Amino acid sequence: MSVKRIVIMGATSGIGLVLAEKLASEGMRLGVAGRKTEVLRELQQKYPSQINYATVDVTRSDAVDRLHGLIERMGGMDVYVHVAGIGFDSDPLVPANEIATMQTNVVGFTRMIDAAYLWFRDHHGGCGHIVAVTSVAGTKGIGRLAAYSASKKFQQTYLRALEQQALSGRLKIRFTDIRPGWIRTPLLDAGRNYPMIMQLPYAVGRIAGAIGRKARVAYIDWRWGLVARLWSLLPEPLWVRMNIPVDSLATAPQRRVNAAEETDGEIAPE
Ligand SMILES: NC(=O)c1ccc[n+]([C@@H]2O[C@H](COP(=O)([O-])OP(=O)(O)OC[C@H]3O[C@@H](n4cnc5c(N)ncnc54)[C@H](OP(=O)(O)O)[C@@H]3O)[C@@H](O)[C@H]2O)c1
Repeated sequence: MSVKRIVIMGATSGIGLVLAEKLASEGMRLGVAGRKTEVLRELQQKYPSQINYATVDVTRSDAVDRLHGLIERMGGMDVYVHVAGIGFDSDPLVPANEIATMQTNVVGFTRMIDAAYLWFRDHHGGCGHIVAVTSVAGTKGIGRLAAYSASKKFQQTYLRALEQQALSGRLKIRFTDIRPGWIRTPLLDAGRNYPMIMQLPYAVGRIAGAIGRKARVAYIDWRWGLVARLWSLLPEPLWVRMNIPVDSLATAPQRRVNAAEETDGEIAPE
């Protein structure tokens, strides 16, 4: 990848944090965002001339203003990477968890992807690159991950729809939909084993590669691409009778940070 200004939304943990470290170590100019200000500050202090940060909660209506402030402090944005996401086990079914998942993965996702799209359209000559980490779980509805799998399907469909809109509006906005299988991160239950689980450095290497070559859809890794293809070939009456052997996501309550009480990052010294 040539040196780019890349915003990573959800850079405080797991995939987003390791991706931020990797891209910064390769000399990229980054804008990192998420709810945990302390983690963002530490990242900025590690790469002071390359990183700006902003505390952003994508479920809040001030998130777009905070993104705009971050882009301004970076002097622009070439790539927007949306990693932020949550998930809960849907069995037993807890409506509050399902709704929280939708607020982050659907409402927050739409808010931020729209903000990036409009920013590229209005401030970057109609060019840009929007990346989102969705999941193989978006292939079909999965009983144990009902809201999570539905939200990931929404994300994949939304990216495709905006791609069509960009093309018909003659915008040069490219889209990359990253669809990983299990990756060992805090999203998963630390005490459980998951099938074909990948370690972060391996998975993030492949994610960075897909971003660099502007892949339209990238399964992480090829084995999960095969699984998704097999799932998609199964007839619906058969699918709904299957007990998909997914293990549960972490069910610990998500840490809630009131972004309004946090401060945005200062301009990084040049
Ligand atoms: N791990 C897997 O097996 C796997 C597989 C497929 C897809 N994915 C997807 O990959 C993405 C990252 O997951 P991960 O595994 O790296 O999990 P993670 O370690 O829990 O990281 C989630 C990230 O999302 C951010 N986030 C959550 N809610 C947010 C909000 N309201 N506003 C702003 N940021 C928010 C978190 O920031 P704060 O901590 O600062 O709130 C954190 O940086 C998710 O979209 C997930 O669905 C993961």
